[in-house]
Amino acid sequence: MDYNHLLIENEEDILVLTINRANALNALNKKTMYELDDFFRVHLPSIQNYKGIIITGSGEKAFVAGADIKELIAMSKAEGKALSTLGNKLFHFIETFHKPVIAAVNGFCLGGGCELAMACHMRVASTNARFGQPEVNLGIIPGYGGTQRLIQLIGKGKAIELLMTGDIIKSEQALLFGLVNHVLEQNEIIEKSKAIINKIASKGPLSVAKISDCVDAYFDKKRNGFDVEIEGFGSMFQTDEFMEGASAFIEKRTANFK
Ligand code: CAA
Repeated sequence: MDYNHLLIENEEDILVLTINRANALNALNKKTMYELDDFFRVHLPSIQNYKGIIITGSGEKAFVAGADIKELIAMSKAEGKALSTLGNKLFHFIETFHKPVIAAVNGFCLGGGCELAMACHMRVASTNARFGQPEVNLGIIPGYGGTQRLIQLIGKGKAIELLMTGDIIKSEQALLFGLVNHVLEQNEIIEKSKAIINKIASKGPLSVAKISDCVDAYFDKKRNGFDVEIEGFGSMFQTDEFMEGASAFIEKRTANFK
């Protein structure tokens, strides 16, 4: 698929994915959603040896200012439901991805943009970032998992206030709420995201993938997270990864994971 609204760069084996519609504050129109879906499900499996993914927005003003309101207004109920299904499936795919995905939030992070950032494993925000689910102002509700993930990240009381009021919060407040992991100057967020991914890449890749799976199981009503952990823990014994990690400890050297 040709991408009109996504830029993909490989920087030192880290994929930097930029939502590129700056004149619409990187709003996620349908085409961008299809492109994101294609990137994760079709394009990514063909790329070898990358350590993780950073998602950011083009320009200095916005990460993503939400779904494209100018498209939403013309949609039927069935089209709205289909779009929400696509977004929910895609964002679940991102959330449960086996390599780290970090949102480098460089400005407005609203509606579907906040939902995209929340689906990433971590969020590194710039001081000018602004967060919120302002759908209620439009007479609509979040459609890409926002009503669920906001509660998971910041708790019901604060989440329901943001969802019902449509209030927009600054990055310092988002940090206090636990919505973001770090707040830095705008020109520092990509480097910080890369540093986190590089640190994770130096650990055992199987362990990292299994930790991701155990954490996801906590939020999956069909699975018991403790059972997933027991299975995952047991499955690591006698693996090359555990042999290398434990041997390195005993031999007082740095582990060299494959
Ligand atoms: N959809 C479509 N276009 C958008 C957009 C969006 N979500 N957000 C911004 N734009 C466009 C504006 O229409 C404008 O385009 P024109 O120059 O052609 O008029 C351009 O981007 C610049 O925006 P503003 O002039 O509004 O910039 P501002 O600095 O005055 O305000 C803002 C910035 C506060 C982010 C404001 O643009 C805004 O409130 N945007 C909408 C935020 C929003 O409501 N998001 C939720 C969308 S619904 C959703 O996401 C549903 C879901 O869960 C899936």
